[in-house]
Amino acid sequence: MSEPVSYEHDQRIVVITINNPPVNALSRHVRGGLFDAIQQFNADDAADVAVIVGGGRLFIGGADISEFGKPLVSPSLPEVISAIERCEKPVVAAIHGTALGGGLEVAMGAHYRIAQTDTKLGLPEVKLGLLPGAGGTQRLPRLIGVDQALSMISSGAPIVATRALELGLVDRVESGPDIRPAAVAFAQEIQAQGGAIRRTGELPRPEASAELIQQWRTRLEKSARGEVAALSAMASVEAATRMDIGDGLVEERRLFQALMDTPQRASLIHAFFAERRVSKLPELRDIKAQPIAHIGVIGGGTMGAGIATSAVLNGFVVTLVERDQASADKARNTIAGNLAAGIKRGKLNDAQRDQILEHQLSTVSEYEALQDADLIIEAVFESMEVKKAVFEALDRVAKLGAILATNTSYLNIDEIAAMTKRPEAVLGLHFFSPAHVMKLLEVVVADKTSPEVVSTAFSLAKRLGKIAVRSGVCDGFIGNRMLVHYRAAADHMVLDGASPYQIDKALKAYGFAMGPYAVGDLAGLDIGYATRQRKAPDRHPRDRYPAWADELYHLGRLGQKTGKGYYLYPEGSRQGVEDPEVDALIEQTRKSLGIERRTFTDEEIVRRYITAMVNEAARIVDEGIALRPSDIDVVLLSGYGFPRWRGGPMHVADQLGLDTILANIMEFAEEDDHFWQPAPLLKTLVDQKRKFASLDLST
Ligand code: 3HC
Ligand code: NAI
Repeated sequence: MSEPVSYEHDQRIVVITINNPPVNALSRHVRGGLFDAIQQFNADDAADVAVIVGGGRLFIGGADISEFGKPLVSPSLPEVISAIERCEKPVVAAIHGTALGGGLEVAMGAHYRIAQTDTKLGLPEVKLGLLPGAGGTQRLPRLIGVDQALSMISSGAPIVATRALELGLVDRVESGPDIRPAAVAFAQEIQAQGGAIRRTGELPRPEASAELIQQWRTRLEKSARGEVAALSAMASVEAATRMDIGDGLVEERRLFQALMDTPQRASLIHAFFAERRVSKLPELRDIKAQPIAHIGVIGGGTMGAGIATSAVLNGFVVTLVERDQASADKARNTIAGNLAAGIKRGKLNDAQRDQILEHQLSTVSEYEALQDADLIIEAVFESMEVKKAVFEALDRVAKLGAILATNTSYLNIDEIAAMTKRPEAVLGLHFFSPAHVMKLLEVVVADKTSPEVVSTAFSLAKRLGKIAVRSGVCDGFIGNRMLVHYRAAADHMVLDGASPYQIDKALKAYGFAMGPYAVGDLAGLDIGYATRQRKAPDRHPRDRYPAWADELYHLGRLGQKTGKGYYLYPEGSRQGVEDPEVDALIEQTRKSLGIERRTFTDEEIVRRYITAMVNEAARIVDEGIALRPSDIDVVLLSGYGFPRWRGGPMHVADQLGLDTILANIMEFAEEDDHFWQPAPLLKTLVDQKRKFASLDLST
């Protein structure tokens, strides 16, 4: 294995290379190596300028996240960066690929910065519940000013090198294929001009008016919704305006350590690793993905048009088939509308839109147009009969080797696959609405789906910028199956006395993007009604049925699209208003069932909701529908508005203690031991004093 940090001469320039694949994270050995290399350079009479460069595909991806929460091994990153900055001879950072977090902080500790044109530079620490803790909050505002620094630090979003040049974060941008020779040439120029040292920390304190700081505070308080990191990062930047670098770094470290000790930091880092673990499927080891260039989409309604938009935006050729040409034209208009909205948000320009509409997208009514497609995604009405007919037709026209996918929400994919002579090529690709925006993609693996097809689906998700989660076949797959269960827990609370509005408020205060009733209004009450109808044959006499929700449906209150649902939406507003008529209707249902209304605290609402979620999830893991508990967290975080800074329901359960979750279930079962039956896996884990996370590690 090569040394994590190497030191070599290029005449009187020293090149210090960091080699810690895959992302050159600043692990203890890298920090030690970098520190030693700087000392060596200081004492090296044969060297005038040092260049720090990253080996491999990027500069430095940041501090080593896997070391967080463990005892620190010195030298610490701030010590290493101070050593770089204090160096008596010039140090140049040669940046390519990516410089994130501690990586950018190393670059700012150097005296000069040169970057390849398409390099991304950013301080994403707030996304991990932290702040830049190795000088980032002190040096960045000194280089680019407080306003721009706050914009980068509070969003965590990276900027490209050309923008960094405009802002003064880098000194030079280089378009060549290799940053190293360009950096050495830059170092030689610096040497020829006398080798001036420019320490970022010695730049004057950045200035900021009280108004600017207050504007940022107001903005961040509004967007924080329970998250603490961005506000703390702001306080640290503000300290830079009042303190010299030495005191500023001490203050930054104090705030950084406080964040390091929060459960939010642990939860966000759990989410980070869960999202990377989710694509590691034991069955796919050494299985290659098939190449995909041409995607067919059948049905151009809400989902089909969204899926097609996502595909064309990510470079695929798309053929969309509708029932007739008028519907195909309508779908094209929807897609064009989505692209126009993308232009407004800066996602693409007019020329790219024109290229897509002229060359990448065709919208037709004949299935024959799909004969060259590598992958075909069906998004027609949610009816087994219609879908079976579509798959029979697809089997006839699709080329050999083409993958056939269904976007069904609930239907049995094994049954759909059985309509073809190639069930190994059939799987579910369950997108979420709006499909060109939502990150989650459930890859539903049917009985006979081949590993090559699954591998291709995961690779497709990556190209679409989505997070794929493997699910087995069951009613609702992972996400919607959980949704039906926790929504039932909410409906029970409504029957017993809580109002839907209190439930939504309590869950929003917990951090959910929306409560279940606001979500219901967005999706349409017809969806919930259809689900209940579909499940009617399996209804158990002890199931507690939300007849009041059916009544709203029969009153034509379908949610936002009809201006009325659980909430009122006066004059097309998207902000729901509470409706006393709904309260009255629910009260009538209670009376007819002889239920005496009781009160719920917000705490109890959240406790019941999360407990229901976790209990059903434990069954889903136990049945092998989800591969591991952390996959469940990824589904809830990326598709169902679960607050990321809480890490997902399984992580929350581990933090609370699975014995607490089990005790909740037993307590709730005293009133209703039909709904509240503990999942066997939960009981086993409690008996064995284990956490859900212990199952994450074993796969
Ligand atoms: N520490 C430890 N491991 C890391 C890491 C890090 N900073 N960044 C990535 N990894 C690991 C991933 O877990 C993954 O491991 P695996 O192969 O075992 O699953 C592997 O590196 C590759 O990661 P990706 O799949 O994410 O690779 P990509 O090429 O898609 O993306 C990246 C590369 C843009 C660098 C992306 O990994 C990323 O965003 N990393 C996190 C960056 C970050 O948040 N840095 C700040 C850290 S906090 C900090 O620096 C504190 C400081 O201020 C003191
Ligand atoms: P939709 O009703 O908006 O669109 C369906 C489209 O399919 C219509 O435009 C219709 O003309 C077309 N169609 C019907 N039969 C066809 C055929 N034989 N050939 C070609 N086109 C045909 O429905 P939506 O909401 O887009 O749902 C589609 C599928 O996606 C359903 O299976 C649904 O369960 C699933 N889904 C829906 C989500 C949502 O939020 N709407 C989320 C995830 C999945």
